[in-house]
Amino acid sequence: MIEKNLKTRTKREVIAIENTTNNLIPSRFMHIMDVGSEYKAIYHALNMETVFVEDKLAKKISTGSLQNIPVQNLENLKTRGLLIEDETEDTKSYKTVKDKLNSLPLTVLYLLVTDKCNFDCRYCFIEGGYTKNQSRNQMSQEIAKRGMDLFVKNIDSGKKRRRTIIFYGGEPILNWNTVEFALGDIASRKEKGSLPTNTRVNLITNGSLITPEIAKVLRKHNVGVSVSLDGRETEHNRNRIFHSSKGTFIETTKGIQILKNHNVHVGISCTLTEGNLETLEEIATFLVNDLDIVSIGFNFLRENPKFSLKDPEYMEKASRAVIESYRILRKKGVYEDRIMRKVNAFTQKKPRINNCAGCGQQIVMAPTGEIGVCHGGIGPKDFFIPYSPDLNTNTHPLWQEWKTRSPFNMEKCTNCIALGICGGGCAYEAFLKHDSIWKLDDPFCIHSKMTLEFLVKDLFEKCLENEKTNRPTLSPSSKH
Ligand SMILES: C[S@@+](CC[C@H](N)C(=O)[O-])C[C@H]1O[C@@H](n2cnc3c(N)ncnc32)[C@H](O)[C@@H]1O
Ligand code: SF4
Ligand code: SF4
Repeated sequence: MIEKNLKTRTKREVIAIENTTNNLIPSRFMHIMDVGSEYKAIYHALNMETVFVEDKLAKKISTGSLQNIPVQNLENLKTRGLLIEDETEDTKSYKTVKDKLNSLPLTVLYLLVTDKCNFDCRYCFIEGGYTKNQSRNQMSQEIAKRGMDLFVKNIDSGKKRRRTIIFYGGEPILNWNTVEFALGDIASRKEKGSLPTNTRVNLITNGSLITPEIAKVLRKHNVGVSVSLDGRETEHNRNRIFHSSKGTFIETTKGIQILKNHNVHVGISCTLTEGNLETLEEIATFLVNDLDIVSIGFNFLRENPKFSLKDPEYMEKASRAVIESYRILRKKGVYEDRIMRKVNAFTQKKPRINNCAGCGQQIVMAPTGEIGVCHGGIGPKDFFIPYSPDLNTNTHPLWQEWKTRSPFNMEKCTNCIALGICGGGCAYEAFLKHDSIWKLDDPFCIHSKMTLEFLVKDLFEKCLENEKTNRPTLSPSSKH
């Protein structure tokens, strides 16, 4: 709601103001953000309630001088948890969110069916994690079956959370025999009832080895395929190359076409490089208009032992580009996955407690059968343990620690304005940079804070529009 400072007050109101202000204090999750020349947003970092007030009023609220503030304003701020009667209210709402970390179910199985690849992308973090002489392997059907057994054993069928099985690599199609075998295994487990029938199956591929026969099998098993494409020919070929250094655009787009011809659901995974940021909006339009893509995921580039970013402002630029592309894509009804996670948290006012299933909610099966929490550590086998048929992710200390790795357990995050939408970034990235998963994934903080600023300002613009068209003012009640 855009609140106005009311000029006149009744006697009853004055009494109410005095009574109310005697008790109220600003929540420790309350933040004040500039949204325009005359207004500020009063924003609650935990429940994501937002109220827009005139500058003068914001100043009074921020300094805690509530005596002269009209009772309607105070009531509104109180209902939204922005003003509280005592600090236990904050402690209680923080604890309610934090407690959810204790009951996170297992949702994802990653089958890294191979660590070999027919591409040699300049930035590849999988490749970057291996040393020169380390051996590469294909997952056997037996190991894939073990992975499935572990997953089935560890999922709690009582909880209705959707499960996902992901084929990953290296390039997974290089080990098509195991992928095809595992698809049959998944189908038969669904039939027998040991795997929920709504379990999703995804394959992440460079697209170059897709044939009509492969596409038919993927369609038959209803596999969602995410093809990695970094833009149009020049943008894509800058980094995504064969071992001969030849660009891979033609082969990748041919694969996309075959998949589409066979009605396979295709999404695009587009890595944000220093070479495609400036044209990202054009790339987004190309993906939607020319390739008819409706599902897109942008990856922020991660540094690894074989790849460093050159531009110190990469993250600011990448975040800005993702936000601008989101503005374009939403008009076309296409939603980018990464920003949607934050948009959903903000609009539904449901805090994100972690960033991805890597935080203790997935099992990763290495080609040679070791099991881990995060596929990022596959090369050095960081956070992998030897195979054990008895793994219980509800009690194993590795999964238990990663499950609690959340901004809601990190001191530096407690007072952060982006707490509710953040999720805390990548635990493995924090480990690579700072030797501990409990440190901040600092580049991700930039993205979270910039996205929050965009969301609040975007909401303000919508409120102004509503005011102009005389629709009821937008006082976000249950949803923004
Ligand atoms: C590692 S690949 C494995 C699957 C398959 N080979 C492919 O390229 O889609 C999965 C995704 O990770 C992305 N990726 C690779 N290295 C990256 C890095 N350093 N930072 C961010 N994303 C990266 C790729 O662009 C691709 O979309
Ligand atoms: S195709 Fe995938 S696994 Fe292969 S080098 Fe490129 S990003 Fe890495
Ligand atoms: S990770 Fe960074 S942006 Fe996210 S809540 Fe923590 S400090 Fe804030």
